[in-house]
Amino acid sequence: MTKKELTISYIEYNSVAELDAEDRILVGKAIEAMDGSYAPYSNFNVGAAVRLESGTIVTGANQENAAYPSGLCAERSAMFSAGSQHKGDAIRSIAVVGGAQGCISDTPASPCGACRQVMAQYQRIAGKDMSVILVGAKVIYKFARVDDILPLIFDNL
Ligand code: THU
Repeated sequence: MTKKELTISYIEYNSVAELDAEDRILVGKAIEAMDGSYAPYSNFNVGAAVRLESGTIVTGANQENAAYPSGLCAERSAMFSAGSQHKGDAIRSIAVVGGAQGCISDTPASPCGACRQVMAQYQRIAGKDMSVILVGAKVIYKFARVDDILPLIFDNL
């Protein structure tokens, strides 16, 4: 038996101004995308923006439904949209921002497990790291790759 440890590293920023120019733009697009959120049940609005290898940015927002599981998170809305409309153009980065009643929460909204798994698959398709930027009003986290928010990725098929 061997005891193992996993270490996750990420960068913490105190404001959007500290991000590099590309990330600042991406975060701005994710914030704008919150407007497209349809969340009458949770009243929790989330926006996401993905940057593709070509530089194209695609956005998404959470879409809820009276039949609850039929809704979709902002992250998957953005990624599936990018995958559908820009096949072959790898997703290199994703920014996520959310909060109750359209007001960005102080600490970042953290992607659900299903969205992390979808990120992992697009990262695998790309064959290159996808960075993940989680945005709060008071703090921003940047992870260099999806593995850092989803250790031991299911990657067996
Ligand atoms: N949601 C997202 O869109 N992304 C996240 O990272 C967390 C949660 C959505 C799903 C649902 O519409 C609402 O937020 C409350 O869970």
